[in-house]
Amino acid sequence: MKTKDRVLGVLEMNRGRCVSGEYIAEEFGISRNAVWKFVNELRREGYRIDAATNRGYSLSEDGDILSAQGIYPFLSEDARRFSENILVFKTLESTNLKAKELALGGAADGTTVISDAQSAGRGRFSREFFSPAGKGLYMSVIRRGIPQVFKAPAAVTVHAAVAVCNAIERVSNHTCGIKWVNDIYINQKKVCGILTEASYDLESGNFDWLVIGIGINVSIGEREFPEDIRGFAVSLFPEDPPQAARNRLCAEILNEIFKKNPPSSDALFDSYKKRLTVLGKNVTVVENGGEESYSAKVIDVDRGGRLVVVGEDGARRALLPGEARISF
Ligand code: BTN
Repeated sequence: MKTKDRVLGVLEMNRGRCVSGEYIAEEFGISRNAVWKFVNELRREGYRIDAATNRGYSLSEDGDILSAQGIYPFLSEDARRFSENILVFKTLESTNLKAKELALGGAADGTTVISDAQSAGRGRFSREFFSPAGKGLYMSVIRRGIPQVFKAPAAVTVHAAVAVCNAIERVSNHTCGIKWVNDIYINQKKVCGILTEASYDLESGNFDWLVIGIGINVSIGEREFPEDIRGFAVSLFPEDPPQAARNRLCAEILNEIFKKNPPSSDALFDSYKKRLTVLGKNVTVVENGGEESYSAKVIDVDRGGRLVVVGEDGARRALLPGEARISF
């Protein structure tokens, strides 16, 4: 790790408190003048760092520049096992794209790619995912294999959706609902989308890797959303995001995903179903890219992540996430 990042790490661990230049210099075996130079570099990157004679440097409590060092203080012990592999970029086409490239190149399980902005953020069905700088959380986590308790691969997506809901509820006063398969809603508007992509080895029947892409609107104002999604999309904190909102939110998601003892498959699907907004509702199912539609009642989600519905003819169907959409 670069010394500048290590200096940032100390300041982030002590946000709002003074750390003496002497302490930092000793810690990293550098001169106090070098500390001052790194502090100035960080200031040029946008960090607000105050300097007080004889007391040292303190990183302002405001400001929420995404960084591995900014995320670290909020990580649990379990999640810190993966903290060396948190990669933060200023801008990327798409964090999923980058994560897939890294996975193909052999990146380790738990590698997390985060970007302040995306120029070509993608959603399900190849839709664009609006990803402006500084106002959202765009992250992709590489997993190699699925936790044993999950049994079925679909549980990974279900786990991600529940993880995001728990994280959002920990950092805000919102209550989350899940729209099948894994759009997260607050106040009936979409706040987060999740796109899971995978490479499957046909011969072994196992996954080489999975990439869980999560996009959250954190502080995008209502009028800032593109017209076609305005009215349907919402931010967690449209006006006044709390301190370190994105760094903390990201850490809380990783804390959920990287739990050494994840929930059992039963517990996981129970939490998912409790939040599922469509359970027990009459919906319109759209299949074949919009060519076919019919009315049905949602009765369950099975362990393959399929939505179980009963049509007006009484027939029971299990809908695959990639093939059917529902509206209600
Ligand atoms: C959807 O709403 O259909 C899913 C949206 C997923 C967006 C996230 S943002 C981080 C990651 N990178 C992408 O390009 N997409 C996912």
